[in-house]
Amino acid sequence: MDTMMIRPRRLRTTASIRDLVREHRVHPSQLVLPLFLVDGQGDRMPVRSMPGVDRMAIDPTCKVIEEARMLGIGAFALFPCIAPEDKDRDGSCALRRDSLMCRSFGVLRERFPDATLIADIALDPYSTDGHDGIVRNGEIRNDETVDVLSKQAVLLAQAGASVVAPSDMMDGRIGAIRAALESAHLSNTVIMSYTAKYASSFYGPFRHALESTPVPRPGVPKDKRTYQMDPANGREAMRQAALDVDEGADILLVKPGLPYLDIIHRFAEHFDVPIAAYHVSGEYAMLRAASERGCLDYDASLAETLTCFARAGARIIFTYGAVDYARRYREEAGGD
Ligand code: PBG
Repeated sequence: MDTMMIRPRRLRTTASIRDLVREHRVHPSQLVLPLFLVDGQGDRMPVRSMPGVDRMAIDPTCKVIEEARMLGIGAFALFPCIAPEDKDRDGSCALRRDSLMCRSFGVLRERFPDATLIADIALDPYSTDGHDGIVRNGEIRNDETVDVLSKQAVLLAQAGASVVAPSDMMDGRIGAIRAALESAHLSNTVIMSYTAKYASSFYGPFRHALESTPVPRPGVPKDKRTYQMDPANGREAMRQAALDVDEGADILLVKPGLPYLDIIHRFAEHFDVPIAAYHVSGEYAMLRAASERGCLDYDASLAETLTCFARAGARIIFTYGAVDYARRYREEAGGD
């Protein structure tokens, strides 16, 4: 009988040897918890299709952040649910100093001075058209939108955001936002660019949560394909990334996550800035729906998903399951 010299299974024989050779282990400090904010006192409104996720007023939001921080999560991405009567075509509420976002960042910065608080930069939560930019004559106006986004970024950074995350996909926004931050003496504000944001079907539950979907009516594009990327394109993502790095982005983000692991991997191989992955609302909803039907184990499939992001090259992971993962991490590892 031949002697088999090389037996890969040797390194899988016990839990402790598997732990020893494991290449990636996602620590809760790598996670970003997205949170949906609403105005009001003590309110919690569930999001249809996202069990375990609520839209929350500032008090319950603080409680969730407190619990998450005890579990080792240090970063939070805030998204506002704006009342319909406060929306308009230009999303002008995005530039108000007394907006829900500005007030919330103020409270959170005071309460959690060392937390990483991430502000989404785009107009869709504020716009009656449901688009990330300003719509005129059936088109998304790039340069006008970039002007507004630069002001929005400065405003939210002044209010307490430590990271601004433009999710709009306009051309030239990173350079413009960087210049605006510099002239406002906000040179330490981090720009996390949604570099490769695809025109995806997986954002549905998020749009329900914010009640922000492009409105099908004359003069308003029915989808976001003139600015978000075509899911068929990978090389184009590399071009976007090169521009963002040149324009001063500190972190590059890929979104959605799991169907785009190849993009995460290509970014990680080619660029020396940290790479973030966004496990988006539809991906989270799929895990929840399948586990509710007894098809999947939610905790195990979530942990596997997050590990695969790390293996692909993501250092930072946005997930609605951050607290669930961190709880399980603590139980299994006995904390650290
Ligand atoms: C819009 C924005 C979207 C998400 C984050 N920022 C939706 C969209 O582009 O339509 C989606 C996040 C998710 O699905 O979890 N600026």
